[in-house]
Amino acid sequence: MSNYKVGYFVGSLAKGSLNRKLANALVRLAPDEVEMREIAFGDLPLYSYDYDADFPKVARDFKDAIAAVDAVLFVTPEYNRSIPGGLKNAIDWASRPWGQNSFTRKPSGIIGTSPGAIGTAVGQQHLKSILSFCNSPMMNAIEAYIQFTPDLISDDGVVNSESTENFLRDYMSEFSNFIGRVFTVFPRSS
Ligand SMILES: Cc1cc2nc3c(=O)[nH]c(=O)nc-3n(C[C@H](O)[C@H](O)[C@H](O)COP(=O)(O)O)c2cc1C
Repeated sequence: MSNYKVGYFVGSLAKGSLNRKLANALVRLAPDEVEMREIAFGDLPLYSYDYDADFPKVARDFKDAIAAVDAVLFVTPEYNRSIPGGLKNAIDWASRPWGQNSFTRKPSGIIGTSPGAIGTAVGQQHLKSILSFCNSPMMNAIEAYIQFTPDLISDDGVVNSESTENFLRDYMSEFSNFIGRVFTVFPRSS
């Protein structure tokens, strides 16, 4: 029986996404007390507040999926030194209608991979700013900027580097600890 349900967002919609490989590795390496489930957002239309009075089913289901987890984990690439537009659109949906922000008091973590040397560091700073406004308690450390080298992680999440595997296992363990710490301050929301 898991203690914490973690919903993860893969920021990339690409079929061959490196960040999906990373997410698959994190699912493999999560500690036993953490149950990982993906929260997909690719079918959401572009958000407008015109929808606020009557959210479409796909958006209601999306918000329900966030409500059903204890914490959220963003596994995202950096696009043009920020986060991909699809992920920002999903966050905008989740944050509305006004007064029903899905991220309030929902613990979050951010991790990402890129072939570039700084491994999504700038995009993650943007995401921190967004999640801060959305009132999500974020794990500040361990930071995780993963430079993706060829074959680092297989499609199904097998990590071909012992040091990277150990780091990702530690990251998930610390994220679990962080969720527990948040719950000592805020009541569990699900
Ligand atoms: C529109 C676009 C913008 C990008 N901008 C960045 C960037 O700012 N920093 C970076 O490290 N890589 C950048 N890249 C390269 C991505 O890191 C690379 O495509 C990686 O595979 C994206 O992760 P994904 O495969 O999970 O989508 C960009 C790629 C695209 C398609």
